Amino acid sequence: MSKRPIAEPYKIKMIQVLRQTTKEERQRTIATAGYNTFLLHSADVYIDLLTDSGTSAMSDDQWAGMMLGDEAYAGSVNFDNLIAAVTEVYGYRYTVPTHQGRGAEHILSQILIKDGDYIPGNMYFTTTKLHQELAGGTFVDVIIDEAHDPQSTHPFKGNVDLAKLQQLIDEVGPEKIPYICIETNVNMAGGQPVSLDNLRKVRDLCNQYGIKVILDSTRTVENAFFIQEREAGNKNRSIKEIVREICSYTDGATVSGKKDCLVNIGGFLATDDEWLFEEAKKLVVIYEGLHTYGGLAGRDMEAMARGMREAVATDDGVTWRINQTRYLGEQLLAADIPIVVPIGGHAVYLDAKRFLPHIPQDQFPAQTLAAALYVECGVRAMERGIVSAGRNKETGDHNYPQLELVRLTIPRRVYTNSHMDVVAQGVIDLYARRAEISGLKMVYEPEDLRFFQARFEPC
Ligand code: F0G
Repeated sequence: MSKRPIAEPYKIKMIQVLRQTTKEERQRTIATAGYNTFLLHSADVYIDLLTDSGTSAMSDDQWAGMMLGDEAYAGSVNFDNLIAAVTEVYGYRYTVPTHQGRGAEHILSQILIKDGDYIPGNMYFTTTKLHQELAGGTFVDVIIDEAHDPQSTHPFKGNVDLAKLQQLIDEVGPEKIPYICIETNVNMAGGQPVSLDNLRKVRDLCNQYGIKVILDSTRTVENAFFIQEREAGNKNRSIKEIVREICSYTDGATVSGKKDCLVNIGGFLATDDEWLFEEAKKLVVIYEGLHTYGGLAGRDMEAMARGMREAVATDDGVTWRINQTRYLGEQLLAADIPIVVPIGGHAVYLDAKRFLPHIPQDQFPAQTLAAALYVECGVRAMERGIVSAGRNKETGDHNYPQLELVRLTIPRRVYTNSHMDVVAQGVIDLYARRAEISGLKMVYEPEDLRFFQARFEPC
């Protein structure tokens, strides 16, 4: 029997009209935006692959839930629904809602980190690392070396290198390591998964030293897909079961609901640790709102509760999603465009060092490439390289990451594969004339998270 193609496991019932612009217009708009795609107006963008964060299309069930928002200051019905959904999907008993993921990171970091502590992690995420630093901690990268190599085809490039973790413990002592932060579907590495086997070993090692394991569970559903596909013994398990197992090795999680949970805003901190929960409740009222809404409207909590259940109700949603990411990535590979392999969960990452080898890293090749791609075809992507990596706090010099990437991030349930065809052709056309592209210089630089607001000019 022939193999049937798979299609979107949903149909479209509302649309947003897209606007196309001319190349001349885009040349002007990107200059006005200081060659930073974060500073573009979305009305000037044709296909928006800036991020998968808060850009999902919600289902009719989620929208119906929005109408059931119980806008009570305290003890909203939607909060009860949210904690029940978190327990069902992720397995944690206690939940503190926050306005988005970084709200949860802030609270967690303030509770667990003391001045002079070290926080190992499987590569950094921008906001996570900054909150660790603001709390007095130092982030230490303990991801396997393969994660820093865009051409390594290791199936679990998100794994922790246990020898690196052990070395840190030996060097600074376990009392200086309050927790390890494990991110699923590691964003900065190209959307690369962690294996269950690795998680078990991290848990065992941390148990020996009394170190907590905290999950950045922002994209755990996507990570579970790769485990189902690649890790022995998981083929016949549901995504839902695998998500629960991932969380079972941890003491708690910070979550940006704007990704896996299919909402436009929302996040939470979840844990089984009663002490951590009590401490989080004390801080959430200061920074976010009462512990039963944490900066969210009742309707937002309802949409997030429904979205997280929907994400694991069947395997079809996440299977389609990763299929679409691969649909784009494979077209680029077929045209010999340098991208990060294996193709990750939420995005295809262009390897700017190989795309623009004539541009030195301190002329921001990935920033340059993202701007040039926008001018080429109206597609908005994001820099994930030297600009995102910021400066070394001691020397003041740029951090020079090995990965200099442009992320083509795919919003969930928003674009069709025809849009992916347009994106692929735009990248291919730009690659053909890559020698004409020259670098940028930074003319305005905010101190923290500079990639959001920095401005550039052509060299
Ligand atoms: N952790 C990870 C792995 C993330 O990707 C993000 C956000 C956060 C935490 C913070 O969550 O945005 O809800 O405060 N990532 C977005 C992105 C911004 O485009 O990758 P947030």
